Amino acid sequence: MYIGIDLGTSSLKAVLVNEGKIIRTESNTYEPDIPKPTWSEQDPEVWYHAMVDVLTRLVKGYEKDIESIGISGQMHGLVILDENDQVIRKAMLWNDQRTFGEVDFLNSIVTKEKLLKETGNIAVTGLTLPKLLWLKENETQNFNRINKIMLPKDYLVYKLTGKFVSEMSDLSGSLFYDLKKHSYSKDLLTIAHINEDQLPTILKSYEVAGTILNNIKETIGFIKDVKVIAGGGDQAMAAVGANVIKNGDLNISLGTSGVVLAVTDEPKIDYQTYLHAFSHVNDKYILMGVTLSAAGALGWWKKNFYQDMSYDDIFNDIIHAPIEDTVYFLPYLSGERNPINDPFAKATFVGMSLNHKKMHLSRALIEGVTFSLKSCYDRIKDLEIDIKRIRVTGGGSKNEIWCQMIADIFNAEVEIPDNPESGAFGAAITAMIGLNVYKSFDEACEKLIPTHKKYTPNKDNVELYHKKYINYLELYPALKEYFQ
Ligand code: XUL
Repeated sequence: MYIGIDLGTSSLKAVLVNEGKIIRTESNTYEPDIPKPTWSEQDPEVWYHAMVDVLTRLVKGYEKDIESIGISGQMHGLVILDENDQVIRKAMLWNDQRTFGEVDFLNSIVTKEKLLKETGNIAVTGLTLPKLLWLKENETQNFNRINKIMLPKDYLVYKLTGKFVSEMSDLSGSLFYDLKKHSYSKDLLTIAHINEDQLPTILKSYEVAGTILNNIKETIGFIKDVKVIAGGGDQAMAAVGANVIKNGDLNISLGTSGVVLAVTDEPKIDYQTYLHAFSHVNDKYILMGVTLSAAGALGWWKKNFYQDMSYDDIFNDIIHAPIEDTVYFLPYLSGERNPINDPFAKATFVGMSLNHKKMHLSRALIEGVTFSLKSCYDRIKDLEIDIKRIRVTGGGSKNEIWCQMIADIFNAEVEIPDNPESGAFGAAITAMIGLNVYKSFDEACEKLIPTHKKYTPNKDNVELYHKKYINYLELYPALKEYFQ
């Protein structure tokens, strides 16, 4: 049997897979720490304890059957260890916005052109390199103690195996990784004052990172010498779990952040709106746009305005609010990445009158998130990627109303794969490939990921949403100057 772990921002989930099917799922939840507005941090020890707890429950009764583990992780976070392997400070996460000064420096002095050419990305606040520059400037003592730099899931691999390794799908989101050469960029390491020996060895995502250490083996109760696979960044892993691995496949993932991800044969660099270009876990590449608050915006809405109700209640509310309504929402609760790239952007409701109730605002909020994803999709199409198939994954894809709204707003058929929690499943698939259970991602994904459901666009709604989308696109440019 095989295990896939998904190290997320609000939970760590793990699935147990037997003969290609998930037979058990376990998870623990936690929250990011927000010590100051725009900061977002998490203690890697919290992830580690969540993982041990979740694995212990997951394997109960199957301790002797586990062969390998794959890990999918939230991307871009900066984990730093000292020479005694102690975590120096909490990890700064992908949605931490404090590094806008470093981002300006990188984009203007190093230049966007050089960054794009070498890494496939410009500097944005979420990525890892600006975090290192911030640390050097603002926490020099901590910076000087750094012995090892790693990404969130690599910390878990390190704790499980003692091996200091990473892989291309996650490293390509660091902004110090050369996307075409598949190596660290010497120039960018120099700019950050770091050496290659502070960084992990680069593996392929499906390669074995190491064998489980005895202390963990005993704590969890594994019987075999379980292998741990290098794994991948959560977006690449979610794509694997949705069978989005071939040129022209597209995944819309509705997690805390929302992502529109297309697979390309070669790196596709966006010199205009700077969508991300990353490595996929096979020999393909990823072109993707990120809406920082997607299901995260919904979580914020529920926490503050629907406390005792479920997410389904919110969606059941919005069907009573007509699409023709005039309320709009810009979903920039944590600033925004694509396509506007503005860490100072703020969330806003626009267009309310006395007749409006909570249901109208709920509709506007979910539409606003979906419009933001649509603008990333439009940019992907502008870059002449021929999209052949669209899949929707992540927690949000469990909701039929949202899936239908996506089909209507994107004006495209969308498919929901059998297992919407595709990140952990993608990690389990990678764990199987690592042990040669399947020869390739193509073979594994074809066999293991049937489509669960399809949504086709409703013509009337397509038109109504299109009009609203055009208006939505005008709001950010009009309001931008108030967002400083
Ligand atoms: C991707 C990104 C987020 C995180 C957290 O670029 O920042 O999707 O990986 O899920």
